[in-house]
Amino acid sequence: MPESIVQQLRETRTLPDAELFALLESPAYDAELFAAADAVRREHYGDAVFLRGLIEFTNHCRNNCYYCGIRRDNLKVPRYRLTHEDILSCAKEGYTLGYRTFVLQGGEDPYYTDERVCALVADLHARFPDCAITLSIGEKPRASYQAFFDAGARRYLLRHETASEAHYAKLHPAELSLANRKRCLWDLKGIGYQVGAGFMVGSPYQTTRELIADLRFLQELQPDMIGIGPFIHHADTPFRDFPNGTLELTLRLLAVLRLMFPYVLLPSTTALGTIHPQGRELGLKAGANVVMPNLSPVAVRAKYKLYDNKICLGEESAQCRGCLERRVASAGYRIVTDRGDVRRG
Ligand code: 5AD
Ligand code: FES
Repeated sequence: MPESIVQQLRETRTLPDAELFALLESPAYDAELFAAADAVRREHYGDAVFLRGLIEFTNHCRNNCYYCGIRRDNLKVPRYRLTHEDILSCAKEGYTLGYRTFVLQGGEDPYYTDERVCALVADLHARFPDCAITLSIGEKPRASYQAFFDAGARRYLLRHETASEAHYAKLHPAELSLANRKRCLWDLKGIGYQVGAGFMVGSPYQTTRELIADLRFLQELQPDMIGIGPFIHHADTPFRDFPNGTLELTLRLLAVLRLMFPYVLLPSTTALGTIHPQGRELGLKAGANVVMPNLSPVAVRAKYKLYDNKICLGEESAQCRGCLERRVASAGYRIVTDRGDVRRG
C-alpha cells in the first residue's frame, strides 16, 4: 500500500503543492493529521506547554491595516499607553505568577521611540535576568532592531500576514509592503533574534493558494515561532462584512505546521479561543505548544481589541493563569514555567 500523504509529510517535512492542496481542502485526512501532529509534538516537547505573559502596552498605531481594530482610522477606540512603570509592575506580577517570558506587544506607536523601548528592555532585563524578553512592535529599521537586541531583547514576533504580494496589497494600504515586512524578518534573523512569523487563517481574499505560499515562505525563513489564528472581523474596520476564519482550517494548519516544523514554538492563540469555547484546547491537541495569557491591566484590555468578541477581557492576571492551567490540563498537557526556548535539531 502506498504511504499516506500525512506519513509522507511527517517523514520528509514537506509535500508537493498538489498534496498540500488535498490536505488543506479536505477533512478526510484530519484524524490522521491531528494524531501525527500530536505524536511529533510529544517527540520534541513531551506534554509541555509554554507560557508567555502578554503585555499589550499601547494601542496607538500609525498604520491602517484593513483587518485590524486598532488601525489609525478607527476613531472609536479609546487610545491608551502604559507607562514604563506600569509595564514593570505588570512584569513583576507576572514573575510572581511564574512567568519567565514577557511579550511586549503594541501598535506602531511613535511615542515609543527607540530610546524609550531600549530603556524599557534594559530595565526589564536588569530586574528579571532569568526571563526572555520578546518584542512585538512592528516594522523598524535594522538599526532599531539591533539597538533593542543590544538592550537585552532576544525574541521578536512579526507575522508576515500573507506571503503573496497581491494578497498583501488587499489586506494593507499602499504604504505597507510585503517586501519591507520580509526585510524586517530577515534583519531580525540576521541580528540573532529568535523570530516568530505567521499569518491569519481565513483572511479576506485568502485561498488555499495563498496558504501554500505562506507555508513555502516559512520553509524559507525557518522561524523559531509561528503565530497563526483565525481572521475575526471587527465592526469598525473596512473588513466588517467578511466572514471569520474557521476552527477547522486553523486546526488543520496548526497540524501541518507541526509536521513541517517539528521543533517550532506554536501558540494556540486567543483568536482561536474566541471563535470556539474550546478552541485553544483543540489547538493544543492539533500540535500547538504555547499559550499566551494576558498580563495587561484589566482596565485597558477592552481597548486592545484587534477583532470583535475577544476573550479574557475581564479576568485578572491570576485568574487568566488559573483558567489556562485548567484548560491545558483538560486537553492532556502540562504547563511548564521555564523560558521555553526553541529545541532545534
Ligand atoms: N482577526 C484576527 N487576527 C488579527 N490580527 C490583527 N487583526 C486581526 C483580526 N481582525 C492579528 C495579526 C497581527 C496580530 C498581532 O494579530 O495577524 O499580526
Ligand atoms: Fe484568560 Fe481564560 S485564559 S481567562
